[in-house]
Amino acid sequence: MSNIKVNIRGGAAPPGSLADYLKNVKLKLMTISGKGGVGKSFVSAAVALGFALRGYRVGILDGDIYGPTIPKMLGMSDATLYADSKTGKIIPAVGPLGVKVVSIDFMLPSEDTAVIWRGALVTQALRDFISQVDWGALDVLIVDLPPGTGDAPLTIAQSLQGGIDGSIIVTIPSEVSRRIVVKAIDFSRKVRVPIAGIVENMCCFVCPDNGKIYYILGEGAGRKIAEKMNVPFLGQIPMDPELSKHLDGGRLHEFLSSNNATTKYIEEIVGALISKYGEKLKQEIKEERPKRVSLMKLPGEDEDQES
Ligand SMILES: Nc1ncnc2c1ncn2[C@@H]1O[C@H](COP(=O)(O)OP(=O)(O)OP(=O)(O)O)[C@@H](O)[C@H]1O
Ligand SMILES: [Mg+2]
Repeated sequence: MSNIKVNIRGGAAPPGSLADYLKNVKLKLMTISGKGGVGKSFVSAAVALGFALRGYRVGILDGDIYGPTIPKMLGMSDATLYADSKTGKIIPAVGPLGVKVVSIDFMLPSEDTAVIWRGALVTQALRDFISQVDWGALDVLIVDLPPGTGDAPLTIAQSLQGGIDGSIIVTIPSEVSRRIVVKAIDFSRKVRVPIAGIVENMCCFVCPDNGKIYYILGEGAGRKIAEKMNVPFLGQIPMDPELSKHLDGGRLHEFLSSNNATTKYIEEIVGALISKYGEKLKQEIKEERPKRVSLMKLPGEDEDQES
Protein backbone atom coordinates (compact mmCIF):
# COMPACT_ATOMS: atom_id res chain seq x y z
CA MET A 1 0.00 0.00 0.00
CA SER A 2 1.44 3.33 -0.95
CA ASN A 3 -0.38 5.05 1.88
CA ILE A 4 1.52 6.30 4.92
CA LYS A 5 0.81 4.75 8.31
CA VAL A 6 -0.60 7.35 10.71
CA ASN A 7 1.24 7.29 14.00
CA ILE A 8 0.70 10.97 14.38
CA ARG A 9 -2.22 13.15 15.08
CA GLY A 10 -3.22 16.20 13.15
CA GLY A 11 -2.87 19.81 14.11
CA ALA A 12 -3.52 21.81 11.02
CA ALA A 13 -7.29 21.99 11.38
CA PRO A 14 -8.31 25.48 10.40
CA PRO A 15 -10.10 27.71 12.89
CA GLY A 16 -13.86 28.16 12.74
CA SER A 17 -16.60 25.84 11.61
CA LEU A 18 -15.66 22.45 10.24
CA ALA A 19 -19.19 21.66 9.05
CA ASP A 20 -18.09 21.80 5.40
CA TYR A 21 -15.79 18.82 5.92
CA LEU A 22 -18.78 16.63 6.65
CA LYS A 23 -21.03 17.86 3.89
CA ASN A 24 -20.97 14.38 2.33
CA VAL A 25 -22.45 12.92 5.51
CA LYS A 26 -26.25 12.94 5.49
CA LEU A 27 -26.96 12.37 9.16
CA LYS A 28 -24.66 13.26 12.05
CA LEU A 29 -25.55 12.07 15.54
CA MET A 30 -23.64 12.31 18.80
CA THR A 31 -24.05 10.08 21.83
CA ILE A 32 -23.86 11.82 25.19
CA SER A 33 -24.62 11.32 28.85
CA GLY A 34 -24.03 13.30 31.99
CA LYS A 35 -22.61 10.15 33.57
CA GLY A 36 -19.91 7.56 32.84
CA GLY A 37 -20.38 3.87 32.28
CA VAL A 38 -24.05 3.97 31.29
CA GLY A 39 -23.41 2.41 27.88
CA LYS A 40 -22.82 5.37 25.54
CA SER A 41 -20.13 3.61 23.55
CA PHE A 42 -22.16 0.43 23.34
CA VAL A 43 -25.19 2.42 22.12
CA SER A 44 -22.99 4.27 19.59
CA ALA A 45 -21.59 1.00 18.26
CA ALA A 46 -24.94 -0.80 18.30
CA VAL A 47 -26.78 2.01 16.51
CA ALA A 48 -23.97 2.26 13.94
CA LEU A 49 -24.05 -1.47 13.23
CA GLY A 50 -27.85 -1.41 13.24
CA PHE A 51 -27.81 1.18 10.44
CA ALA A 52 -25.10 -0.81 8.61
CA LEU A 53 -27.21 -3.98 8.83
CA ARG A 54 -29.97 -2.10 7.02
CA GLY A 55 -27.57 -1.21 4.22
CA TYR A 56 -26.60 2.32 5.23
CA ARG A 57 -23.03 3.60 4.88
CA VAL A 58 -21.88 4.31 8.40
CA GLY A 59 -18.94 5.90 10.22
CA ILE A 60 -18.06 6.16 13.90
CA LEU A 61 -15.92 8.99 15.19
CA ASP A 62 -14.63 7.81 18.56
CA GLY A 63 -14.54 11.11 20.40
CA ASP A 64 -13.34 9.58 23.66
CA ILE A 65 -9.66 10.49 23.57
CA TYR A 66 -8.81 9.39 27.12
CA GLY A 67 -10.86 6.19 27.15
CA PRO A 68 -11.55 4.96 23.60
CA THR A 69 -13.59 1.74 23.64
CA ILE A 70 -15.25 1.58 20.22
CA PRO A 71 -12.37 -0.37 18.57
CA LYS A 72 -12.49 -3.07 21.24
CA MET A 73 -16.27 -3.46 21.01
CA LEU A 74 -15.97 -3.85 17.23
CA GLY A 75 -13.01 -6.24 17.37
CA MET A 76 -10.74 -3.65 15.74
CA SER A 77 -8.06 -3.29 18.39
CA ASP A 78 -5.31 -4.17 15.89
CA ALA A 79 -6.47 -1.76 13.20
CA THR A 80 -4.21 1.04 12.01
CA LEU A 81 -4.97 4.32 10.33
CA TYR A 82 -3.29 5.28 7.09
CA ALA A 83 -2.93 8.63 5.40
CA ASP A 84 -3.65 8.78 1.69
CA SER A 85 -0.28 9.40 0.02
CA LYS A 86 -1.81 11.81 -2.51
CA THR A 87 -4.19 13.85 -0.37
CA GLY A 88 -2.54 13.43 3.04
CA LYS A 89 -5.96 12.73 4.51
CA ILE A 90 -6.43 10.02 7.12
CA ILE A 91 -8.33 7.00 5.84
CA PRO A 92 -10.67 5.52 8.46
CA ALA A 93 -10.18 1.89 9.43
CA VAL A 94 -12.96 -0.34 8.14
CA GLY A 95 -14.64 -2.57 10.69
CA PRO A 96 -17.49 -5.10 10.71
CA LEU A 97 -20.25 -4.54 8.14
CA GLY A 98 -18.06 -1.94 6.44
CA VAL A 99 -18.37 0.61 9.26
CA LYS A 100 -15.62 3.24 9.01
CA VAL A 101 -13.97 4.04 12.33
CA VAL A 102 -11.52 6.68 13.50
CA SER A 103 -10.23 6.43 17.06
CA ILE A 104 -7.16 7.65 18.90
CA ASP A 105 -6.80 3.99 19.91
CA PHE A 106 -5.53 3.17 16.41
CA MET A 107 -2.63 5.56 16.88
CA LEU A 108 -1.43 4.37 20.28
CA PRO A 109 1.45 1.90 20.61
CA SER A 110 -0.58 -0.40 22.86
CA GLU A 111 -4.09 -0.53 24.30
CA ASP A 112 -2.62 0.18 27.75
CA THR A 113 -1.04 3.45 26.65
CA ALA A 114 -2.56 6.42 28.47
CA VAL A 115 -3.17 9.64 26.59
CA ILE A 116 -2.02 12.41 28.91
CA TRP A 117 -3.08 15.54 27.15
CA ARG A 118 -4.48 18.82 28.30
CA GLY A 119 -7.86 19.91 26.98
CA ALA A 120 -6.43 21.99 24.13
CA LEU A 121 -4.81 18.93 22.55
CA VAL A 122 -8.00 16.92 22.91
CA THR A 123 -9.88 19.71 21.20
CA GLN A 124 -7.33 19.75 18.40
CA ALA A 125 -7.44 15.97 17.97
CA LEU A 126 -11.24 16.02 17.69
CA ARG A 127 -11.15 18.81 15.14
CA ASP A 128 -8.60 16.79 13.17
CA PHE A 129 -10.87 13.76 13.26
CA ILE A 130 -13.35 15.89 11.34
CA SER A 131 -11.18 18.01 9.09
CA GLN A 132 -8.29 15.67 8.29
CA VAL A 133 -10.16 12.43 7.82
CA ASP A 134 -11.46 11.34 4.45
CA TRP A 135 -14.85 10.16 5.67
CA GLY A 136 -16.12 9.94 2.10
CA ALA A 137 -19.85 9.80 1.46
CA LEU A 138 -21.73 8.45 4.46
CA ASP A 139 -25.38 8.07 5.32
CA VAL A 140 -24.73 8.23 9.05
CA LEU A 141 -21.84 9.36 11.25
CA ILE A 142 -22.10 8.54 14.94
CA VAL A 143 -19.85 10.52 17.28
CA ASP A 144 -19.23 8.65 20.52
CA LEU A 145 -18.34 11.01 23.35
CA PRO A 146 -16.83 10.67 26.82
CA PRO A 147 -19.03 11.16 29.88
CA GLY A 148 -20.08 14.60 31.00
CA THR A 149 -20.50 17.89 29.26
CA GLY A 150 -16.87 19.00 29.06
CA ASP A 151 -14.32 19.70 26.35
CA ALA A 152 -15.12 16.88 23.94
CA PRO A 153 -18.89 17.34 23.50
CA LEU A 154 -18.41 21.09 23.44
CA THR A 155 -15.72 20.85 20.76
CA ILE A 156 -17.82 18.58 18.57
CA ALA A 157 -20.91 20.76 18.90
CA GLN A 158 -19.04 24.03 18.40
CA SER A 159 -16.72 22.85 15.63
CA LEU A 160 -19.68 21.78 13.57
CA GLN A 161 -21.78 24.84 14.43
CA GLY A 162 -25.24 23.49 13.89
CA GLY A 163 -23.95 20.56 11.84
CA ILE A 164 -24.92 17.86 14.35
CA ASP A 165 -28.44 16.70 13.60
CA GLY A 166 -29.17 15.15 16.95
CA SER A 167 -27.87 13.99 20.30
CA ILE A 168 -28.70 10.52 21.58
CA ILE A 169 -28.88 10.80 25.35
CA VAL A 170 -28.04 7.54 27.09
CA THR A 171 -29.16 6.82 30.62
CA ILE A 172 -29.84 3.98 33.02
CA PRO A 173 -32.94 3.57 35.17
CA SER A 174 -32.51 5.05 38.67
CA GLU A 175 -32.95 8.33 40.43
CA VAL A 176 -29.45 9.28 39.33
CA SER A 177 -30.57 8.93 35.73
CA ARG A 178 -32.98 11.81 36.06
CA ARG A 179 -30.11 14.18 36.77
CA ILE A 180 -27.99 12.66 34.00
CA VAL A 181 -30.73 13.26 31.49
CA VAL A 182 -31.61 16.74 32.66
CA LYS A 183 -27.95 17.80 32.41
CA ALA A 184 -27.53 16.24 28.97
CA ILE A 185 -30.72 17.92 27.72
CA ASP A 186 -29.57 21.24 29.14
CA PHE A 187 -26.18 20.81 27.44
CA SER A 188 -27.70 19.90 24.10
CA ARG A 189 -30.03 22.88 24.21
CA LYS A 190 -27.25 25.28 25.21
CA VAL A 191 -24.99 24.18 22.35
CA ARG A 192 -27.98 24.14 19.99
CA VAL A 193 -27.84 20.47 19.09
CA PRO A 194 -31.38 19.11 18.63
CA ILE A 195 -32.18 16.13 20.84
CA ALA A 196 -32.67 12.92 18.89
CA GLY A 197 -34.02 11.24 21.98
CA ILE A 198 -33.31 9.23 25.10
CA VAL A 199 -32.12 5.63 25.20
CA GLU A 200 -32.58 3.82 28.49
CA ASN A 201 -29.84 1.22 28.67
CA MET A 202 -29.82 -1.66 31.18
CA CYS A 203 -33.54 -1.09 31.61
CA CYS A 204 -34.21 -4.58 32.77
CA PHE A 205 -33.27 -8.24 32.58
CA VAL A 206 -35.09 -10.61 30.26
CA CYS A 207 -34.97 -14.13 31.70
CA PRO A 208 -33.57 -16.39 28.96
CA ASP A 209 -35.57 -19.36 30.32
CA ASN A 210 -39.08 -17.93 30.22
CA GLY A 211 -38.80 -14.43 28.69
CA LYS A 212 -40.07 -12.78 31.87
CA ILE A 213 -38.85 -9.19 32.24
CA TYR A 214 -37.38 -8.06 35.57
CA TYR A 215 -37.03 -4.31 36.12
CA ILE A 216 -34.12 -4.52 38.55
CA LEU A 217 -33.46 -0.78 38.85
CA GLY A 218 -37.08 0.36 38.47
CA GLU A 219 -39.49 0.48 35.55
CA GLY A 220 -40.08 3.15 32.94
CA ALA A 221 -37.81 5.92 34.31
CA GLY A 222 -36.40 6.78 30.88
CA ARG A 223 -39.79 7.14 29.24
CA LYS A 224 -41.15 9.21 32.13
CA ILE A 225 -38.21 11.62 32.04
CA ALA A 226 -38.54 11.93 28.27
CA GLU A 227 -42.23 12.82 28.64
CA LYS A 228 -41.55 15.24 31.46
CA MET A 229 -38.72 16.99 29.60
CA ASN A 230 -40.65 16.91 26.34
CA VAL A 231 -38.02 15.03 24.36
CA PRO A 232 -38.46 11.84 22.29
CA PHE A 233 -37.95 8.44 23.87
CA LEU A 234 -36.05 6.23 21.42
CA GLY A 235 -36.26 2.99 23.35
CA GLN A 236 -34.67 0.78 25.93
CA ILE A 237 -32.12 -2.04 26.00
CA PRO A 238 -31.97 -4.81 28.60
CA MET A 239 -28.82 -5.74 30.46
CA ASP A 240 -27.72 -8.96 28.89
CA PRO A 241 -24.77 -11.13 29.95
CA GLU A 242 -24.51 -12.57 26.42
CA LEU A 243 -24.30 -9.06 25.00
CA SER A 244 -21.64 -8.18 27.54
CA LYS A 245 -19.55 -11.20 26.46
CA HIS A 246 -19.87 -10.22 22.82
CA LEU A 247 -18.87 -6.63 23.61
CA ASP A 248 -15.83 -7.74 25.56
CA GLY A 249 -14.87 -10.12 22.77
CA GLY A 250 -15.27 -7.51 20.00
CA ARG A 251 -18.16 -9.44 18.44
CA LEU A 252 -21.05 -7.00 18.76
CA HIS A 253 -21.82 -7.42 15.03
CA GLU A 254 -22.27 -11.17 15.51
CA PHE A 255 -24.63 -10.55 18.41
CA LEU A 256 -26.70 -8.09 16.37
CA SER A 257 -26.83 -10.42 13.39
CA SER A 258 -28.15 -13.29 15.49
CA ASN A 259 -31.71 -13.88 16.59
CA ASN A 260 -32.02 -12.88 20.25
CA ALA A 261 -34.36 -10.87 22.43
CA THR A 262 -31.98 -7.96 23.07
CA THR A 263 -31.29 -7.32 19.39
CA LYS A 264 -34.99 -6.59 18.84
CA TYR A 265 -34.79 -3.69 21.29
CA ILE A 266 -31.79 -2.27 19.43
CA GLU A 267 -33.59 -2.67 16.09
CA GLU A 268 -36.47 -0.62 17.49
CA ILE A 269 -34.12 2.21 18.42
CA VAL A 270 -32.53 2.19 14.96
CA GLY A 271 -36.04 2.07 13.46
CA ALA A 272 -37.07 5.10 15.53
CA LEU A 273 -34.02 7.02 14.27
CA ILE A 274 -34.70 6.05 10.67
CA SER A 275 -38.30 7.26 10.99
CA LYS A 276 -37.16 10.49 12.58
CA TYR A 277 -34.45 11.24 10.04
CA GLY A 278 -35.98 9.52 6.99
CA GLU A 279 -35.94 12.67 4.86
CA LYS A 280 -32.27 13.41 5.60
CA LEU A 281 -31.29 9.83 4.83
CA LYS A 282 -32.96 10.08 1.43
CA GLN A 283 -30.88 13.12 0.36
CA GLU A 284 -28.64 12.79 -2.66
CA ILE A 285 -24.97 13.51 -1.96
CA LYS A 286 -22.09 13.91 -4.33
CA GLU A 287 -18.72 12.68 -3.11
CA GLU A 288 -15.88 15.17 -3.59
CA ARG A 289 -12.21 14.33 -3.32
CA PRO A 290 -10.52 15.94 -0.31
CA LYS A 291 -7.88 18.64 -0.60
CA ARG A 292 -4.34 17.99 0.54
CA VAL A 293 -3.67 18.74 4.21
CA SER A 294 -0.66 18.53 6.50
CA LEU A 295 -0.53 16.51 9.70
CA MET A 296 0.74 17.36 13.16
CA LYS A 297 2.89 15.19 15.44
CA LEU A 298 2.14 13.62 18.79
CA PRO A 299 3.75 15.69 21.53
CA GLY A 300 7.44 14.75 21.70
CA GLU A 301 7.36 12.93 18.38
CA ASP A 302 10.12 13.56 15.79
CA GLU A 303 9.63 14.51 12.15
CA ASP A 304 11.38 11.35 10.98
CA GLN A 305 8.90 9.07 12.78
CA GLU A 306 6.20 9.99 10.32
CA SER A 307 6.65 7.42 7.58
N1 LIG B 1 -27.14 -3.52 27.98
C1 LIG B 1 -25.98 -4.01 28.42
N2 LIG B 1 -25.87 -5.31 28.83
C2 LIG B 1 -24.68 -5.80 29.28
N3 LIG B 1 -23.56 -5.08 29.36
C3 LIG B 1 -23.61 -3.79 28.97
C4 LIG B 1 -24.80 -3.19 28.47
N4 LIG B 1 -24.53 -1.90 28.17
C5 LIG B 1 -23.25 -1.71 28.43
N5 LIG B 1 -22.68 -2.82 28.92
C6 LIG B 1 -21.30 -2.97 29.40
O1 LIG B 1 -21.13 -1.96 30.39
C7 LIG B 1 -19.83 -1.38 30.30
C8 LIG B 1 -19.95 0.13 30.08
O2 LIG B 1 -20.46 0.36 28.77
P1 LIG B 1 -19.87 1.50 27.85
O3 LIG B 1 -18.39 1.41 27.78
O4 LIG B 1 -20.63 1.49 26.58
O5 LIG B 1 -20.28 2.77 28.73
P2 LIG B 1 -19.91 4.30 28.47
O6 LIG B 1 -21.06 5.10 28.93
O7 LIG B 1 -19.45 4.49 27.09
O8 LIG B 1 -18.68 4.46 29.47
P3 LIG B 1 -17.68 5.73 29.55
O9 LIG B 1 -18.44 6.78 30.30
O10 LIG B 1 -16.51 5.20 30.32
O11 LIG B 1 -17.37 6.14 28.16
C9 LIG B 1 -19.11 -2.10 29.17
O12 LIG B 1 -18.32 -3.12 29.72
C10 LIG B 1 -20.24 -2.70 28.34
O13 LIG B 1 -19.82 -3.88 27.71
MG1 LIG C 1 -17.67 5.28 26.35
